[in-house]
Amino acid sequence: MSKFLLVTDLDSTLVGDNDALQRLNSWFKQHRQTYGSKLVYATGRSLKSYERLISHTALPEPDVLIASVGTEIYYPGNELDENWSSLSSQNWDRASIAVVVEQLSQLVAQPGSEQRPFKLSFVLDEEDASVLSELEAQLIAQGLEAELIYSHGHDLDIVPRKINKGSAVTYIRQAFKFTAEQTVVCGDSGNDIALFAANQIGIIVGNARRKLLQWHQDNFEGNAQQFPLSGH
Ligand code: GLC
Ligand code: MG
Repeated sequence: MSKFLLVTDLDSTLVGDNDALQRLNSWFKQHRQTYGSKLVYATGRSLKSYERLISHTALPEPDVLIASVGTEIYYPGNELDENWSSLSSQNWDRASIAVVVEQLSQLVAQPGSEQRPFKLSFVLDEEDASVLSELEAQLIAQGLEAELIYSHGHDLDIVPRKINKGSAVTYIRQAFKFTAEQTVVCGDSGNDIALFAANQIGIIVGNARRKLLQWHQDNFEGNAQQFPLSGH
């Protein structure tokens, strides 16, 4: 083996099976020391919410934390990548987007900790998801640039255009000088689609959500290897 960049989502991808996580932890620790591989978490969670998770889950410290669906990048010591934040701020009019959203009663705001400078987040029931095309049309009509990311048939994130987990990984990959062939991404749900779209090598976990599986089927049918699940 040689060094590689391991990029993984947290909830329902890396986290969820403590025994398996422990095994992976010790293997990766060894690998990291021997080969200089790097670990990147790419999560929808804010830094605060990530800190809540690590307070009760034994996770190895990552070299990079991509938080809030790709809109924030942190290095050890919670050092924010200001350059990435300034890229995220381009053509981003958060206040005007909030005004548009206020008129759509189907969108219920998530807790304050998940509302971030470059991310507005809501709960949206799957049966009301048709409102997404209306929201998109209104944003376009008002010349507001944004990307809508819908996950778990439940969470809606509104983020700057071209800012997502995938573009954040490309940025990190270049900064850390890893090639596409040395980069592996892992995920389970809608907000991970950008990870798979921007990278060549990916692992969709066995418990992946329908939206991601559907996206994969639509784009890559026939190109993936499937591994049988043991005991899950
Ligand atoms: C995490 C975040 C939430 C987001 C969801 C999907 O749960 O806390 O704000 O909507 O991921 O990206
Ligand atoms: Mg997940």
